[in-house]
Amino acid sequence: SSVSSDKATQETPSYACQRRTPLHHHNKEIVDALQILALSASFQGSEARYLGFTRAASVLKCLPFTLQSAEEVKDLQFCGGHSKTVIQEILEDRVCREVEMVKNSEHYQSMKVGFKVLTGIFGVGIRTADKWYRDGIRSLSDLNEIEGKLTGEQKAGLLHYTDLQQPVTRDEAERVEQLVKGALQSFVPDVQVTMTGGFRRGKQEGHDVDFLITHPNEEALNGLLRKAVAWLDSKGSILYHHIKGRSHNFARSSTMDGHETCYAIFALPNACPEKSPDAGTIQPDLDKSPPRNWKAVRVDLVVAPYSEYSYALLGWTGSKFFYPLLQHFERELRRFSLQVKKMSLNSHGLFDIEKKCHYPATSEEEIFAHLGLLYLTPSERNA
Ligand code: GTP
Ligand code: MN
Ligand code: MN
Repeated sequence: SSVSSDKATQETPSYACQRRTPLHHHNKEIVDALQILALSASFQGSEARYLGFTRAASVLKCLPFTLQSAEEVKDLQFCGGHSKTVIQEILEDRVCREVEMVKNSEHYQSMKVGFKVLTGIFGVGIRTADKWYRDGIRSLSDLNEIEGKLTGEQKAGLLHYTDLQQPVTRDEAERVEQLVKGALQSFVPDVQVTMTGGFRRGKQEGHDVDFLITHPNEEALNGLLRKAVAWLDSKGSILYHHIKGRSHNFARSSTMDGHETCYAIFALPNACPEKSPDAGTIQPDLDKSPPRNWKAVRVDLVVAPYSEYSYALLGWTGSKFFYPLLQHFERELRRFSLQVKKMSLNSHGLFDIEKKCHYPATSEEEIFAHLGLLYLTPSERNA
């Protein structure tokens, strides 16, 4: 394997968006260990160590072979120093003492469980979970004490917690797609609907289903999302939804975007429904109500004007930078654009800061070309 390792070494560039990162790779034990240390660093508030371990793990995901000796990583980006010690120990002893210690530490375990529970609630991001955790909130029952302070989204997330903790399968995602397309096409027959997110990168399951909606004629998109969601709601297919309107004044460098977006929880009918779901009889899923013929599924619907569609597609395909996935393709792409190309990228477009101009694009391939990057297919963006 020394030939392949030399080759991999020479070809490993610094940014994850310059590398093909497949969904499945060859160094799971080491990557898992480095990600445990990354998570532990983030629990201790050390962003730098978090990024260091995350980047080392991300580089190893691209290796086309299983590591045999630590020598093979000596020239790899981000795999020196502390990470190299970890890699070496695992290769020699199968385990790394530091990782075992971290895994068994009370702080790590309680943080992990606490964060997993809290960030697992729809409407609870890493910031809220962090704040709650510091306020002593560790479990769902602790949340009763601050019930009055919960947002509508968070309340809906709690109500459907059990269902939303179950991964969404590809089959379920495809059935959601039929529902969504049916609703949108009843208003605009030739509307374009694309499944984005993890499923587009080839994952077999996800925490939600993401869709991007567009049409060459911008007029056709006016009010479409609201009408389609209201239609689905009237059929009992929507348990919760919140629509964020399109905003024109988002910061160019912001990671937030201004696309019209619907964050929803669908009542997805079972594969062979005996009867259709009825909004009037929906019960919280934590009690002992009779068997249901639907499952609560998180759905994101994003509307992008045709001219921004490729940028929105690239942005909403991921992978994202967010616990608990430790995936960071999007973050790396934006960091590369800014640092290497002096261009600001978001899901609306690409702006050249020095030349002060925008680059239009009609495909993801064109965006990679504008950035001077080799094109990566969605399934190669699992960094
Ligand atoms: P799973 O859903 O867990 O399978 O993973 P995923 O990769 O599909 O993640 P998620 O659905 O959270 O996000 C999909 C992509 O959309 C990621 O690249 C995110 O960065 C991006 N994304 C999610 N929410 C937002 C948002 O509010 N604004 C923008 N601009 N992008 C978002
Ligand atoms: Mn998703
Ligand atoms: Mn999503």
